[in-house]
Amino acid sequence: MPARTTVLVTGGAGFIGSHTCVELLDHGYDVVVVDDYSNSVPGALERVAKIAARPPVAVHEIDLLDRRALSRVFDEHRVDAVIHFAARKAVGESVELPVEYYDTNVGGTTALLHAMRDHGVHRLVFSSSCSIYGDATKVPLTEADPARPTNPYAASKWLCEQVLADICRHLAGFSVLALRYFNPVGAHPSGLLGEVPRKAVPNNVMPYLARVAAGRLPRLSVFGGDYPTADGTGVRDYIHVMDVAEGHRLALEHLDDEVGMRVFNLGTGRGTSVLELLAAFQRACGRPIPYEVTDRRPGDVPALVADPGAVARAWNWSTARDLDVMCRDAWRFQELNPSGYPN
Ligand code: UD1
Repeated sequence: MPARTTVLVTGGAGFIGSHTCVELLDHGYDVVVVDDYSNSVPGALERVAKIAARPPVAVHEIDLLDRRALSRVFDEHRVDAVIHFAARKAVGESVELPVEYYDTNVGGTTALLHAMRDHGVHRLVFSSSCSIYGDATKVPLTEADPARPTNPYAASKWLCEQVLADICRHLAGFSVLALRYFNPVGAHPSGLLGEVPRKAVPNNVMPYLARVAAGRLPRLSVFGGDYPTADGTGVRDYIHVMDVAEGHRLALEHLDDEVGMRVFNLGTGRGTSVLELLAAFQRACGRPIPYEVTDRRPGDVPALVADPGAVARAWNWSTARDLDVMCRDAWRFQELNPSGYPN
């Protein structure tokens, strides 16, 4: 990579994107953000600039499917590498809106590849998901385990991985790292940056817990108490968003290790049940969190846990922040920003 590296970050105002922008700015990278704010707000980037004490070089409010506008971004900046976060990510919604999911997630990726190819940019870090493993029959999961996506969101991520692998086979010099995240949670330790779900009632468990703890929702529904897990509740591999951000910076640093497509899990390797997460959140906020065990949520799987060995061997790196840190940081963000970012 050149000494002063410019990274184009699509979806840079989103949850993982904004934390990654901070990580990159903190490490001397110049950052160009592309975001259409369909699931984020400009306020997140103001917080990024505040934490890093310098802003992104530029922020372009465009839709990736607007190919002309995207091409102009590449005309304007000498981009060395791209991190592609921009996508739709709600599993339930993807079942209702499959066309929109393929359009944004697959079409957005091919539009980006077009612009990259036309401008001689060959380095890409791609945001993938553990959901491609689907109803996994074993834990922990390695990258060699089969993809069995069970919904359009997961299928769109798996399709993108296949497109990227094939492009790497046919276009010389392309170097792509796809990172399959497990369950990113937590927030920046400053309390300035975190996860701001668009809906009043969050889908994901961690923001839901934070709102119950804050008294904004009455209780957590624990979806299913009869899974074949130690306490009967769903097991996931929660990973601190700052570890995810660090993983992206390291991916950039390792893009040139070899050309072609590589895939890595980003997880801790530790499984946590919903009840264990609830207990950890109670420790973090110092108050009891009401809950009730209800029916399973359709489409949920019993357990998804990463084998993080491949990335550890390749980069000599593993995650640093445990469940208590994840809960502490998520709670701090909730307390300091009860209504999310100012608009
Ligand atoms: C899902 C997707 C993942 C996506 C992520 C973020 C799958 C397999 N995974 O993760 O790809 O990146 O959302 O959008 O589709 N739970 C409760 N009560 C709640 C909410 C959740 O008990 O109110 C439980 C769930 O049953 C599950 C665990 O908490 O066992 C985690 O759920 P959630 O935070 O929604 O994430 P996933 O469904 O694992």
